[in-house]
Amino acid sequence: MLQLRGDSGPRWIAVLLLWAALCCLFVPAVTVKHENFKTCDQSGFCKRNRQFADAAAATSSWASPYTVDPATITFKDGELHATVLKTLQIGQEKVELPLTVTFLDSGVARVTLDEARRLKGDITLRHDSKARKERYNEAGKWALVGGLKVADGAALSETADEGYTKVFYGEGSKHQAVIRHAPFGIEFQRDGETQVKFNERGLLNLEHWRPKTEKPAEEKREGEEETKEEEKKEEIAGEDESTWWDESFGGATDSKPRGPEAIALDITFPGYDHVFGIPEHATGLSLKTTRGGDGAYSEPYRLYNADVFEYEMDSPMTLYGAIPFMQAHRKGSTVGVFWLNAAETWIDVVKAKSSANPLALGVKSHTDTQTHWISESGQLDVFVFLGPTPQDLTRQYGELTGYTAMPQSFAIAYHQCRWNYVTDEDVKDVDRKFDKHKIPYDVIWLDIEYTQEKKYFTWDPLTFVNPDKMGKQLDKSDRKLVVIIDPHIKNTDNYPVIDELKKKDLAVKNKEGNQYEGWCWPGSSMWIDCFNPAAISWWKGLFKYDSFKGTLPNTFIWNDMNEPSVFNGPETTMPKDNIHFGGWEHRDVHNLNGMTFHNATYQAIAERKKGELRRPFVLTRSFYSGSQRSAAMWTGDNLAEWSHLEASLPMILNQGISGFPFAGADVGGFFGNPSKELLTRWYQAGIYYPFFRGHAHIDTRRREPYIPGAPYTEIITQALRLRYQLLPVWYTAFREAHTTGAPIVRPNFYVHPEDERGFAVDDQLYIGSTGLLAKPVTKEGATSVDVYLADDQPYYDYFDYTRYQGAGTHTVSAPLEKIPLLMQGGHIIPRRDRPRRSSGLMKFDPFTLVVVLDKENAAKGELYLDDGETFDYEAGAYIHRRFAFDGKRSILTSTNAVPLGAKFTAKLEAYLKSMSKVRVEKVIIVGAPKAWKDKTEVVVMEEGAKESARRKTVAMEFHAGSGKQADWAIVRDPKVGIGRGWKIDFS
Ligand code: GLC
Repeated sequence: MLQLRGDSGPRWIAVLLLWAALCCLFVPAVTVKHENFKTCDQSGFCKRNRQFADAAAATSSWASPYTVDPATITFKDGELHATVLKTLQIGQEKVELPLTVTFLDSGVARVTLDEARRLKGDITLRHDSKARKERYNEAGKWALVGGLKVADGAALSETADEGYTKVFYGEGSKHQAVIRHAPFGIEFQRDGETQVKFNERGLLNLEHWRPKTEKPAEEKREGEEETKEEEKKEEIAGEDESTWWDESFGGATDSKPRGPEAIALDITFPGYDHVFGIPEHATGLSLKTTRGGDGAYSEPYRLYNADVFEYEMDSPMTLYGAIPFMQAHRKGSTVGVFWLNAAETWIDVVKAKSSANPLALGVKSHTDTQTHWISESGQLDVFVFLGPTPQDLTRQYGELTGYTAMPQSFAIAYHQCRWNYVTDEDVKDVDRKFDKHKIPYDVIWLDIEYTQEKKYFTWDPLTFVNPDKMGKQLDKSDRKLVVIIDPHIKNTDNYPVIDELKKKDLAVKNKEGNQYEGWCWPGSSMWIDCFNPAAISWWKGLFKYDSFKGTLPNTFIWNDMNEPSVFNGPETTMPKDNIHFGGWEHRDVHNLNGMTFHNATYQAIAERKKGELRRPFVLTRSFYSGSQRSAAMWTGDNLAEWSHLEASLPMILNQGISGFPFAGADVGGFFGNPSKELLTRWYQAGIYYPFFRGHAHIDTRRREPYIPGAPYTEIITQALRLRYQLLPVWYTAFREAHTTGAPIVRPNFYVHPEDERGFAVDDQLYIGSTGLLAKPVTKEGATSVDVYLADDQPYYDYFDYTRYQGAGTHTVSAPLEKIPLLMQGGHIIPRRDRPRRSSGLMKFDPFTLVVVLDKENAAKGELYLDDGETFDYEAGAYIHRRFAFDGKRSILTSTNAVPLGAKFTAKLEAYLKSMSKVRVEKVIIVGAPKAWKDKTEVVVMEEGAKESARRKTVAMEFHAGSGKQADWAIVRDPKVGIGRGWKIDFS
């Protein structure tokens, strides 16, 4: 023991120790390096457009300088064309802007506005730039896959209204676009009521091309006073020239060869108090206002994919991915817009409240949400959705950008990652330890250290001596390996991958047209340009089994750093004047970049071997609209702090309603060491992430679930088992997402769109359509949580059937070992109750059906199953059952959710055969009627069974609940097939 004595030595040691201990207590909070990322004020075009908005707001007579030339309006085959004229302040010159409004069959309208002069290429580029001259118009090529059929029924309104053009469209012609000629604006109406307004505030601003005119320096000096006045005036009008021709930030200068070319527009949602979407930001689900005020942000939401190290909570700062899709919601209506632009984008959100007018009867107070969208370049291309339900929005957005890919079944089980498992022996050891502790997991991951000196497609020969053997050990328990492959290719000697990249000329170019060189994990690197079809072909070749040696059919891929992250680049990414395939500047395509890369990897994995048709798995950090078709995402480098656990829920919910639901956050927190309590709570929350992976930074201590010891390991194991037990629910939810665009985990507003009190609730979630309502604990030391119930159906505790009923908040006890999870009455939940080492080993396990009765004693549910691996489901090889409990007749039935009919293929037959022995081993009725209390048996009837087995009686047990606990009944082993039709009669 240390004693404080008179001599100076030990006292000094004590002081030092004390100091060290204090340092540990007061570790300075890690925060993002704000200075590395621009504010709106530091981003020229954002600043200009905000100034423009301020000038408009400050001027009572503000008139937007855009008008439609009525003589140019044509309407044919569901498409309206016209020329919008922008009148310039100086000389009243007019700039021609071709406008197209397309009315789609789905009831969605698309508005594009371009600039005739740039479109024709009639401009000169500065600095001998090799860039294209047009405004970027290819975002749709990457983002859109359908939903573009033009409406047959759209028609011009016959009632002429001076100064307006009106088009009826949508089902039953319920929608109307009212195009105002002067100033140009559009109102989108549903059933005669305006839902979305373009340019209501006059903030449309398309920065037209102009040549740079050098002002003689002399002049400036002479009339200095005057110049300042002039500058001020220019600023007010948003015409501040200082960043038109070049712009510097953090020591890097962007050469802007095309001059100013921003595109901005105000979009108002009248009567809407809540807007959601536009991920990725670490914010709550209901977006805050961005122009100051109590609790508001002062910066706009930014979309400029970036590697934001140690990102901060509750901030509109940009993160790794961008989905420019926003939904506005109020009771009875959901509408939205999709701003298809891949350049740096900022979005201001303002809520304009109008109070009730005491003199005007019937005029209630309401809120208009006013948004202001500002992109650096590209054409204006906006889709308008008029709902009216949240489900319409996710379906229609999904029709355009694609639904989430159907994952392999392992991909929705648990993933174990860290930076890094250091050797192949280490991997095998972790694998064995999971088994020893009887903890299920499906996938183990390798971060960048597995490579030889960060050269992707190689293995470190000293540490990963026998990757084949490692992969095979994993395969024994049907487990998988994911290895990381990043888009930066090490620029070094003796590395065939970089040699080929250079030789074939497939890298992104710098502004001079030479292969761009920057800095990332490997040091000097070059970046594959996946906008180039030849680059994709080449990339595909690299993943073939005989090319990427050591990979097996159970190896899958993690794509990181694809924003792209460039350590020595401006804002940790590429210079905007870099050039991609086709001559587009990086500025035009930045937010698409990550998606082009993970798309290429998806294709590569799909084609590793001829005839091997299995669903690829790729994880991406950067994303854009459409990424859901080929990847899962995670929320990047979070911190092992309670606030980050809390923020993960709204972030993942937001991904879900924004069309990219296969989302997760690093369980445990990436940076730092979580306390055992935090780690445990994080696992208990992580089981509700559609993508569920534990991950940790290289400097952290090991924290695999078996590490923390009693009681934590046991509690985490229980959480993992719960995830595995409910895998049928998760898989069915993925099927729904894959076919309808519905989120996998759903916020309150999506499930209860009429419940105003619950619109902003974002700390609890529903899993698919099952009525399972989870409220993860995100507060240190909490022993209970308040769960918000939107309706007055009975809700039951998942584990002990305690009943909660009544709209409002209910306190549910949640000591460390308890995961707050309720079941809403009215649902049938399929589970698999046998604990296994991996999901693959559960393939032929029997099912338990939990029938949770509602107020009318009824319930229904679904189960979707397929081989979990191939694309045979596309040929109809799946089981999709609908279960229903008829409350009046007390009969539980299983029927086909979709008629087999035409889809009865050989593949289906083979699949059904493989599943023919898989049965229901238990039926639990929660909230069983009291009348059943003396009942001891039920009658079971099965279609297609042998005569003798077709009708049989099976024992039933009734359990009376105590206190708040519901009564329940159990039928053990009715022996009915999961793929068959059957009835169980409880009457
Ligand atoms: C990035 C990733 C992180 C990974 C690390 C090393 O920071 O976000 O998950 O572990 O790079 O590859």
